[in-house]
Amino acid sequence: MSRRAARAGSVAEMRELARRRLPRPVFDLVEGGAEDEVTLQRNSAAFLRARLQPRAFVDVAERDTATTVLGTPLRSPLLLAPTGAARVLHRDAELAVARAAAARGVGYVHGTVSGHPVEQVARVTGSWWYQLFLSADRGRVTAELDRVAALGCRVLVVTVDVPTFGNRERDRRHGLTLPVRLSPGLALHCATRPRWTAELLRGNLPQRGRPDGRVSPFATQGQILRSLYPVTEGDLAWLRGAWPHRLVVKGVMDPEDGALAVRHGADGVVVSNHGGRQLDRAPATLEALPGVVEAVAGRAEVLLDGGVRRGADVLTALGLGARAVLVGRPYLYGLAVAGQAGVERVIDVLTTELDRTMALTGVASVRDVGARTVTLGPPVAGSAGAS
Ligand SMILES: Cc1cc2nc3c(=O)[nH]c(=O)nc-3n(C[C@H](O)[C@H](O)[C@H](O)COP(=O)(O)O)c2cc1C
Repeated sequence: MSRRAARAGSVAEMRELARRRLPRPVFDLVEGGAEDEVTLQRNSAAFLRARLQPRAFVDVAERDTATTVLGTPLRSPLLLAPTGAARVLHRDAELAVARAAAARGVGYVHGTVSGHPVEQVARVTGSWWYQLFLSADRGRVTAELDRVAALGCRVLVVTVDVPTFGNRERDRRHGLTLPVRLSPGLALHCATRPRWTAELLRGNLPQRGRPDGRVSPFATQGQILRSLYPVTEGDLAWLRGAWPHRLVVKGVMDPEDGALAVRHGADGVVVSNHGGRQLDRAPATLEALPGVVEAVAGRAEVLLDGGVRRGADVLTALGLGARAVLVGRPYLYGLAVAGQAGVERVIDVLTTELDRTMALTGVASVRDVGARTVTLGPPVAGSAGAS
């Protein structure tokens, strides 16, 4: 474990180390949400509403955080969410993230928007999921599905909450438009963060069509932006027919959408508002979770992401019916601070916190967390979640 990563005893501490290391526009690219960032704040504030019931007289000397999610065994109910930002944070980008997930036995969802081709990722990890943005070009999508299936991917995650791009004002203020270009303003910020800049210059500069097969995430993001596509019921039905393995729908916030996804054969849904980066003023994911769990009624596995920053948050989501959670920004902070070691540190911190919270709530296995352990109180006064 690198000394830099080991200094972080919590996700908040890792975030602070990342904030100090990254040029402001790059930190904001990761950190920001849509418009007034109300939903971004609600996501984490909602977890403060949770009341965890302390228990005594339970034998919790041996505790088990392991579970299985859609056939994937995990040492902890955690998956690293698809994000398009890894390449600007560390030169090993998604390879570091995939390696960390494999080393710690948690899930890794490789995003369509990525600095590394999926072939390279498949070489460093045995088990990974693939996140897809659907496009109207069925030929392209079919080729993408064939490619990832041939590489061993058995779980496809289709993101359905980007019919258009959210209004990220931090990026606009910094002049970061997609695809990102090195503007004079960004260069000035880079000069204030020499360590990060030196690393970027040592081979991490986004370049299109490099001989090693690396592709700029920014160029890819630009392409995706041009092909943004509101996913319809018909598309989902088509995708179900085109993908023979497990299918997960990511970006479900409405019970009806959860039921619809299941009707069309989804094996899992992710209750997600894209980390508050799409529709501002959407509810917190934790608040949306119980309704979706009820609508899905055990016919698919329900996952959650958005605002998970503590092991207690993981336990809370499980208590309200999630099978596991995904984290986005937390592992990106770790990646920015210390590459693979930083991501591993974040996973360790969350797992240790989860394990300790289990002991204190009298839960011996994550599969036993239930309504007896977690209840949601009223919104916390003064938090964005109270609005
Ligand atoms: C910088 C960044 C880029 C993201 N890119 C994608 C993406 O390409 N596809 C996707 O489905 N979700 C994307 N997301 C959303 C994450 O998968 C996840 O839903 C979100 O980060 C969870 O919230 P959290 O960051 O509070 O943990 C992105 C999130 C961030 C922070």
